[in-house]
Amino acid sequence: MTTAAAQVNAPAYVKNTKLIAWVAEMAALLQPKDIYWCDGTTEEYDRLCAQLVAAGSFKKLNPELRPNSYLAWTHPSDVARVEDRTFICSARKEDAGPTNNWCDPAEMRAKLQTGEQALFKGAMKGRTMYVVPFSMGPLGSDIAHIGVELSDSAYVAVNMKLMTRMGKGVIDVLGADGEFVPCVHTVGAPLEEGQKDSAWPCNPDTKYIVHYPETREIWSYGSGYGGNALLGKKCFALRIASTMGRDQGWLAEHMLLLGVTNPQGQKFHVAAAFPSACGKTNFAMLIPPQGYNGWKVTTIGDDIAWVKPGKDGRLYAINPEAGYFGVAPGTNTLTNPNCMRSLDRDVIFTNVALTPEGDVWWESMTDTPPARLTDWQGNEWTPELAKQTGAKAAHPNARFTVAATNNPALDAEWDNPAGVAIDAFIFGGRRSTTVPLVTEARDWTEGVYMAATMGSETTAAAFGQQGVVRRDPFAMLPFMGYNMSDYFQHWLTLGSKLQASGAQTPKIFCVNWFRKGADGKFVWPGYGENMRVLEWILGRIQGQAQGVENAFGISPTYEDINWNGLNFSKEQFQSVIGIDTAAWQQELKLHDELFTQLSYHLPAELPATKAKIEQRLAA
Ligand code: OXD
Ligand code: MN
Repeated sequence: MTTAAAQVNAPAYVKNTKLIAWVAEMAALLQPKDIYWCDGTTEEYDRLCAQLVAAGSFKKLNPELRPNSYLAWTHPSDVARVEDRTFICSARKEDAGPTNNWCDPAEMRAKLQTGEQALFKGAMKGRTMYVVPFSMGPLGSDIAHIGVELSDSAYVAVNMKLMTRMGKGVIDVLGADGEFVPCVHTVGAPLEEGQKDSAWPCNPDTKYIVHYPETREIWSYGSGYGGNALLGKKCFALRIASTMGRDQGWLAEHMLLLGVTNPQGQKFHVAAAFPSACGKTNFAMLIPPQGYNGWKVTTIGDDIAWVKPGKDGRLYAINPEAGYFGVAPGTNTLTNPNCMRSLDRDVIFTNVALTPEGDVWWESMTDTPPARLTDWQGNEWTPELAKQTGAKAAHPNARFTVAATNNPALDAEWDNPAGVAIDAFIFGGRRSTTVPLVTEARDWTEGVYMAATMGSETTAAAFGQQGVVRRDPFAMLPFMGYNMSDYFQHWLTLGSKLQASGAQTPKIFCVNWFRKGADGKFVWPGYGENMRVLEWILGRIQGQAQGVENAFGISPTYEDINWNGLNFSKEQFQSVIGIDTAAWQQELKLHDELFTQLSYHLPAELPATKAKIEQRLAA
């Protein structure tokens, strides 16, 4: 072993000198009490989980009810992604664009790394630094990329084991001189000699989630939660990967990936972008409803897709992740039976409630709540108390972490290094009015317009007010690593290049499951019934299904949808598919606001498409 490797406690199989040197440099900055290299084995996972139980950070759930599963409760300040503390530190402000928080890289480095009071200096004192090597994508796939996360959180290490391909196998692929994205994470709570640790260490006052797109680095301070701390997910697979995609001609998208097979045995692959907590996991695990005998939907991914043009001109996608970090509240045997089965065992739950029997519960998991629970903050909870005070048993952004291999509907191709060829892109926001149930774009540009102007009502996945409509282009607003207008241009350019090479680009659709009636309730039944919309989409791809043109694109009439097994009247359908001219005129004003905000580098095709919609509305 070289001295450098010995200094950082690297196992003999680590040959990458750049990695060893970086770990040594970071250890000098962070000053952890020791360094531990994760090998990704089950033995290691079990050991770290037992350690978290002993530290009071995990509760082991009753093995008879939920084998090999754990529950963590976070600090109340650390329950969601912190978008206002997330920074894209590109050299030029214009390259981060108006939708991102930007800070000059030198200024940020002084604050975090180099200044007198730099936050990362000594930030891991008294703690173990875990070295977590991970691959986003199947090991060795030429669509995949490797990262190494240094973290002082064992919670992060065990979550990374479920969410990514993690451990020694990654070090082997990295070899002596492979490239990796360096990711540094600290909970920002150094321990003094003899100081007792808290069950959920974090820094309640100071959080920074920082990306340097040019040097492809991630620095995260102060939070132990989800996308703030599991750096392979939003930070790498979306923010940093989107800039890699811009430079290298591919796409990193906030999209689920599913396979759908019809009774004739033909299989299609669909990638769909919905904002956080808008049902991507449910759609990716959809079970076709009654009347759909012989149809099968299989999951490739539930949150992120990396999409690269293949030699044949088609677009191929992989799921860079290996697990699901899904929202628990709202998940039940009606909304997502496959997900409930995935959660039978081997799960890490965060911020759900604990039953007296040692199992978990969250809002709407069962029709009747248990008579008594301990809520996510450790307080006594009863249905009566909840009625009086509105207290939630589970935090609305409570999550489960589970390996993809637990999913009974996992697609046979989910781990295929070559990816799957995409037949359609779907974009959908949460809109109680205005946007129709489903609309097909007449061409690639109109599809990019639909995606770019998408609006959605905000959810608990991020800190801040909920239920307000905000523009969320491509469902990427919180996850874009560079200027949003340049990203629109990247999509347009990719489409033109594919078409110029004679390839047929995937069709693009816009959906909205969330329109409400006068009674304030959702009109469309959603979940498994979304299969009816998916069937129409596949019919359009095959040139078999009919539709009618409207101002926005092409939508089905009542007769174009298969209603076998569902009682849904023409009037109900009209209320979810109709285009209300006045509402659309209002909507287009909001598109204008977006275009004004994004005027720097905004592709001319977008205002031109808007002008056409306006003309059609006026006709
Ligand atoms: C997620 C999110 O965790 O989008 O997937 O917030
Ligand atoms: Mn997401």
